[in-house]
Amino acid sequence: FNVPVAKNEPINSYAPGTKERASLQAAIAEARSKQIDVPMYINGEEVRTDKKVPMSPPHDHQHILGYFSEGDASHVQASIDAALAAKKDWAAMSWENRASIFLKAAELIAGPYRDKINAATMLGQSKNAFQAEIDSACEIVDFLRFNVQYMTEIYKQQPDSAAGIWNRVEQRPLEGFVFALTPFNFTAIAGNLPTAPAMMGNTVVWKPAYTQIYSANVLMEVFNEAGVPPGVINLFYVDGPTAGDIIFKHKDFGGIHFTGSTAVFQHIWKTIGENIYNYRSYPRIVGETGGKDFIMVHESAKAKQVATAITRGAFEFQGQKCSAASRAYIPSNLWEDVKKYVQEDLKTFKMGGTEDFSNFINAVIDEKAFDRIAKYIDEAKASDKVEVIAGGNHDKSKGYFVEPTVLLTTDPKYTTMCEEIFGPVITIYVYEPNDYEATLKLVDETSPYALTGAIFSQDRYALEVAVKALEQSAGNFYINDKPTGAVVGQQPFGGARGSGTNDKAGSMINLLRWVSPRLIKETF
Ligand code: NAD
Ligand code: ALA
Repeated sequence: FNVPVAKNEPINSYAPGTKERASLQAAIAEARSKQIDVPMYINGEEVRTDKKVPMSPPHDHQHILGYFSEGDASHVQASIDAALAAKKDWAAMSWENRASIFLKAAELIAGPYRDKINAATMLGQSKNAFQAEIDSACEIVDFLRFNVQYMTEIYKQQPDSAAGIWNRVEQRPLEGFVFALTPFNFTAIAGNLPTAPAMMGNTVVWKPAYTQIYSANVLMEVFNEAGVPPGVINLFYVDGPTAGDIIFKHKDFGGIHFTGSTAVFQHIWKTIGENIYNYRSYPRIVGETGGKDFIMVHESAKAKQVATAITRGAFEFQGQKCSAASRAYIPSNLWEDVKKYVQEDLKTFKMGGTEDFSNFINAVIDEKAFDRIAKYIDEAKASDKVEVIAGGNHDKSKGYFVEPTVLLTTDPKYTTMCEEIFGPVITIYVYEPNDYEATLKLVDETSPYALTGAIFSQDRYALEVAVKALEQSAGNFYINDKPTGAVVGQQPFGGARGSGTNDKAGSMINLLRWVSPRLIKETF
């Protein structure tokens, strides 16, 4: 039988005067009015420790939303033990029942938990209402619905059989347990990384970034209410190296579903390599990592469209999107117009806390991120190769606020053209239209990443040249659109080179990584 056909969850606008806005504001006020005591979840039990770590909104760092219980090596071990103990029954459960649990989780988030999870993302990760809605309501619902659909398609696929023979494929989960290691910047990613392997019959141990625990807690409440059995997804708060030290040495380590920085992923891959003789099977390694995403513009492009792509593509979500545009190549004939439109647009961007729905720009995630971004900006200000076109200020007195910053450089290999900053900063290089093909080469060669990129052109020949020249430069490539905003079920997302294993989150490709097929040939 078939599961319901997956559809993208409609996005609420939270426009002034709507009941949706009033309801979300009430959820925010309620969350701010109390301090919650967030447990780890191991083997279906809430686990608390004496080590209470405060959680605060990045835009209001003196306010305390609650505390989470930090664990230690014993909690990592307990999570692994629980995952291994739960494995047999979970793997044996019919896929229809597993599908049903995750479809219910999607409906809980789309319905009764929508305000709660949006409020948690707005307060805990400093996203405005619209950004939270896209991330923690719609995208996680889409991941769950579409993955269930892909899962059923995977289970249905069977090989042909010649007369007198029956060939069949059994999609077994991986041996052992799967480790979901998740980043701070998307609640949806934190939700997808444990559920995708779990859906395919694996049991999971999950470590989120500490700065995402406030919304991870809501996800876990949803998974429990949806009926995920004890031990299937175990959530612990232990520092990365301590967790990694136990997990990557474990003989039953079956695979990692990671999203985060390139440096951490490379370190993990190396550690797995060092332990390769310990494992029962070769672990599956799936990782989506950093980016230095580009906007390349041909002389035939429309200046206003390019300017909008720059301001939206670089500054939505405070630039803390792996897909965010952070370098742009503009032909000199368009530059003055693009600059004017960018500067005009940025004047309309209000910056402040997420409780005020008119604020478009909110805070970056924490002090470490703030200091890193501020350093890039301050060094650029001091450089004779760079001119600040917009923004450039930052202030961490109340929250970690960085103005949307546009830098213009005369050096196409200047630091901020090459390195991932992961904040609201874009650097622009202006080239002569005759140098179009040389500049395409520059786009390809400037950074070690290949996540997202965009080309703007009204000239079909120029587009054709760019599509070929940038073939390896981005896993998600956009023509006449900003390089952000991939929608599950429409633009499967992921990159190659330093940006990851390109296993396309929210796709059949990704789900296939969490099974180990057994082919059975029976002869009559
Ligand atoms: P991060 O690499 O700092 O952390 C990711 C996770 O790894 C966290 O849970 C962290 O605690 C853990 N970790 C850190 N060091 C570890 C270690 N030594 N051993 C084990 N675990 C460790 O990333 P972040 O700051 O949370 O997220 C931002 C990064 O994620 C950016 O580089 C961004 O480009 C990337 N990202 C990529 C995608 C994508 O789809 N390609 C999507 C979102 C974010
Ligand atoms: N999926 C997100 C985007 O495409 C990261 O912007």
